[in-house]
Amino acid sequence: MNKLNHVAFIMDGNGRWGKKRNKGRNFGHLKGVETVKKIVKYSIKLNIPIVSFYVFSSENWRRPKKEIIFLFKLIQNYFDKEIKSIVNEGIKINILGENKKLPKDIKSTLHKTVYLTSKNKKITVNLAINYGSKNEILHSLKNIKKKINLKNFEKNLYTKNMPNPEILIRTGGHQRLSNFMLWQLAYSELYFLKKLWPDFSPIDLKRIIEKYKKIKRNFGKI
Ligand code: IPE
Ligand code: IPE
Ligand code: MG
Repeated sequence: MNKLNHVAFIMDGNGRWGKKRNKGRNFGHLKGVETVKKIVKYSIKLNIPIVSFYVFSSENWRRPKKEIIFLFKLIQNYFDKEIKSIVNEGIKINILGENKKLPKDIKSTLHKTVYLTSKNKKITVNLAINYGSKNEILHSLKNIKKKINLKNFEKNLYTKNMPNPEILIRTGGHQRLSNFMLWQLAYSELYFLKKLWPDFSPIDLKRIIEKYKKIKRNFGKI
């Protein structure tokens, strides 16, 4: 049986989900947050040490300003409201991405959340916000003070010393990585689902993990 340390999610399809119900794209984002909550809870139950969620890409700045503002407000309100229960549940929040360019308010909320949850041990939840894998790779190269080699390069990625995701799940029907963890996913098992993110459920995750556990992972061997 394959070990599982890290599951990564490209949560795509919120906008379509909301539009399909004639309630607008942002309604889908609201629902998407509920899915994240459910999946984190279930991941704790399964003893998965790390989960990563692609929240906002470096390319998502191309969206209408109104939607961007809504997304940031949504993240900020969520943490302002739920920080106590996040701390109590033992969840450690980690941010991956370029936080310098984020609006001041959300930056300070995220900073506070990371600080208050830093000692938690039940699960690490990575949130990729203003994240772009190509930027991450450049960031690492610029920051390497010592010799450029694999170990030093990986130490300077946003994911630092974390194990790479064994599983990547993308909802929403597209089979692409959209600039997410290009380096870290080099040997991951990829799962693409037609389902839109708000419809993704713990049972879907359970099924994927069951399949994953039985896969023969070769890493070049036979
Ligand atoms: C959520 O899905 C991803 C985020 C950027 C928050 P989308 O907003 O891309 O939804 P679709 O793909 O347009 O339906
Ligand atoms: C990927 O979804 C980014 C996030 C889930 C945050 P997008 O909807 O932005 O991806 P593309 O643009 O369709 O590839
Ligand atoms: Mg999308």
